[in-house]
Amino acid sequence: MKVAIGSDHGGLNLKREITNLLQEMGIEYEDVGCDCTDSVDYPDYGIPVAEKVANGEVDRGILICGTGIGMSIAANKVKGIRCALVHDLFTAKVTREHNDTNILAMGERVIGPGLATEIARVWLSTEFEGGRHATRVGKITEYEGS
Ligand code: RB5
Repeated sequence: MKVAIGSDHGGLNLKREITNLLQEMGIEYEDVGCDCTDSVDYPDYGIPVAEKVANGEVDRGILICGTGIGMSIAANKVKGIRCALVHDLFTAKVTREHNDTNILAMGERVIGPGLATEIARVWLSTEFEGGRHATRVGKITEYEGS
């Protein structure tokens, strides 16, 4: 699996924690930025990560901003993206099993690094269940025409 990861200034510290996790899990990743604490605009990092996932350059994406909200809105504008904003372990697991989400969004100002790291670990390790859930995801794909 290859992952693209991005953040704005509000998610930079948590992004560093998550890249440490990716290294620990032996997962190849590409960090698209940002890499400084200056104020930046989250779509400038969220959309490139989403495009890499959508065009198959990488398998999954992880996006972090202050709340995770802006990143998740931006990512979900890209055709083929199913981005979930997750701040608990239950939905981290179920959004992979049921929604086959291909991008995880989190907010650095919402949860601590310990929980966020475990959420990312669960999300990266959980497989899509398919079956009736594939029918439902297929209806979303059909609607967006991809
Ligand atoms: C930046 O201040 C903040 O608005 C951003 O990180 C994010 O929370 C937006 O949704």
